[in-house]
Order: sequence, then C-alpha cells, then structure tokens
Amino acid sequence: METLEFYAAAIPGTEKALCEELCELGFGSVRLNRGGIPFRGEAREGWRACLESRIAQRIQLLLHRFPCPSEDALFDGVKAIDWSPYIRSDQTLSVSAVCIASAITHSGFAALKVKDAIVDQIRARTGQRPSVDRHDPDLRIFLYLANNKAALYLDLSGEPLHRRGYRKEAGEAPLRETLAAAILRMSHWDRTSTLVDPMCGSGTIPIEAALWARNIAPGLSRAQFGFERWAQFGEREATELKELRGQLRSVVTGQSPRIVCSDIDPTVLDIASDNARTAGVKLSFKERDVRDLQGDQAAHTLVTNPPYGVRLEKSPGFCREVAATFSRLHGWRVCLLAGTPDYERELSATPQYRKPLSNGDIDCAFLSYDIK
Ligand SMILES: C[S@@+](CC[C@H](N)C(=O)[O-])C[C@H]1O[C@@H](n2cnc3c(N)ncnc32)[C@H](O)[C@@H]1O
Repeated sequence: METLEFYAAAIPGTEKALCEELCELGFGSVRLNRGGIPFRGEAREGWRACLESRIAQRIQLLLHRFPCPSEDALFDGVKAIDWSPYIRSDQTLSVSAVCIASAITHSGFAALKVKDAIVDQIRARTGQRPSVDRHDPDLRIFLYLANNKAALYLDLSGEPLHRRGYRKEAGEAPLRETLAAAILRMSHWDRTSTLVDPMCGSGTIPIEAALWARNIAPGLSRAQFGFERWAQFGEREATELKELRGQLRSVVTGQSPRIVCSDIDPTVLDIASDNARTAGVKLSFKERDVRDLQGDQAAHTLVTNPPYGVRLEKSPGFCREVAATFSRLHGWRVCLLAGTPDYERELSATPQYRKPLSNGDIDCAFLSYDIK
C-alpha cells in the first residue's frame, strides 16, 4: 500500500496539542510543526484523521511537490498531474494559495493559474470543464508556494472539521469545537474526574469533554467529508468508510464522568441542551451565576471561556469578582481561555502554563492555575 503524506491544519497555538493527539491516535511519522502537523500513512489514514481528530481544523493530502520558479512552471507542474481521480468535468472546484518569498508573489494569481491548468486538462480530455464554486466545491485545492517550491494539497475535510454537525445554534460568542477540544487536552483533564464549566454558553466545552470521555469520534456526527465527493469515491469506498465508521462506533464507551455545566443566561442554556442532545451526550445544564460557585471537598478541573469585549463593559469589576471566586477553589485546577488580559491580571497567582491562542480573529490566552 502506498504511503502518502498528510497535513493536519491547526488553529494557531494548538499545534502541540494536535501533535500529541495524532501520536496518541496512532498516526505515523507525526512531526510537530508551526501551523499544522504533517503525518504519513496509507490513503485510509486520511479518512480516519477526519473522523478521529478533535483538534485538527482540516486534513489535507499532499498531492505533489515541484520546483516553481515561474508562472509557466506552476501551470505545467499542475497540468502534469492526472486530475481524473479527483474531479470530473461536471463537478466544481476552488483553489486557494499562499505565496512566500517566490517569483510569483500574488496568491490570487497563483490560485487562478492552478485552476486554469486543471480546467484545461479536463477540457482537453472531455470537451467540458469543471466550474468554480467558492462556497461549496466538490474539490478544494490548496497551493503552498515558498522559496519557489510548490506543494499542492487536496482538502479531505470539505467543511472545516470544527463543524461537527451537532451545533445547530450557538450563543453570542461560541467557541470553535476544535479549540474547545484543544484546551481540554491542554488542561490535562483525565477524562474520568469531575469537569466544571461555569460559563458554558452553548455548551461547546462540556459537549467536547463528554464526547472525548466516551471515546466518541467527533466525525461520526458529520454527514459528509470532502473526500466523499472526489471523482474516485465510489461504492467500494463508501462501503469501506461505512466499515470504518462502524469500527469507531464499536469502541464508544457508555461511561461518562460528572460534567457540571452552568451559565447565567437561560436562553443560551436551552441551545446548549439542544446541542448536547444532537451530539448524543447526556448533560444537564443549570442556570447559575459563576460568582456563586463554591469549592467542595474534592478537587475538580474547571475549564471555561469567560466573557470578553463589549460584554464586560457592561459590568465593571466582573473579572475581579470571577478571579476572587476562582481563588477560593482550593485544590482545583482552573483553566481559562481568556479573550482579555483582565482575568490574568486579577488572578494574582502566576499561571502554571500560559499559551497564546487565536479564537477566530480574537487573540486569547490559555491560562492554567493550580489553586493552592
Ligand atoms: C464567551 S461566552 C462562552 C461561550 C461558550 N464557550 C460557547 O461555546 O458557547 C461567555 C459566557 O459567559 C456567560 N456569563 C456571563 N456572565 C456570567 C455570570 N455572571 N455567570 C455565569 N455565566 C456568565 C455568558 O452568558 C456567555 O454564555
């Protein structure tokens, strides 16, 4: 069986967590890299990564690398690939590109060249050409051009992998599911002890925690991945994918640890309950002010994504009060995905671990405290 190279794209700051996850899931030749994690395996390993990774944003297949000192080299390099396994003339494609320190400097132009070369090849063979669809293409292609060397990738995921399919509605500032999974891993929660999210919003952190604890592969709730729309994906592949889904279902465990989730906003809690039901996990959500949280005898892990930005302007002193509440949770591990430096400032202790992350276009920090 041929060994292929894949690339798991990460949200900036989550690379290490993703690397650890892929190693734990048994993928081969996993390497820690900025921006994403390369790994190797036969074709079906790419499918498995789409189904099993909780942290990757996308899984891409490296199709070809070639020297690319000019426009012509790009066009010829792309045209030399046989595109028939991936796209038919009646299908759609989209191409995106990144150009770094190369003769071709404009990424839009590079993407256009790649598209032209693919379309030309298919038209020459069939008399018809695929069309471009930027929103929902059958095939997504990514060109990474650096130092005049091209690497061409096909996206196996289709929609980014944080779109698990269970979140029909979200609160005002929902967290991407992949980022929630990354901070859970970064918290070192053991998946058996009690987990608390006292500002759970639409429930992303508790739902991801429950899926992880029960070993439910996150991709099982997805209706379709990008690779299922490739030209070569036929009945035999559909049967194999069904078998793989079946194998993953067979390792789901029934046991769930205690996950305590609450929020002050009852509307968002209704959404959280619906999302948990769709995800197939049992969680109960309680209306409660975080400032009423009490520590009990047992030490728990708290992982939460507190409010930031305009929401805080309405309640000056909120960060101080939350910090005071958390400081009373003796023996607990408290982990925050903070979208403002105010929480870190108010929690007078130095975090055991601090990692800058980006949540969409918001710069955040993951902060972990062992409360003494
Ligand atoms: C950034 S959002 C959390 C988003 C959540 N992680 C999700 O995926 O939907 C912050 C949450 O804190 C909640 N919140 C604000 N003040 C609160 C308080 N005093 N007590 C409890 N929750 C509060 C808000 O209702 C909001 O849902």
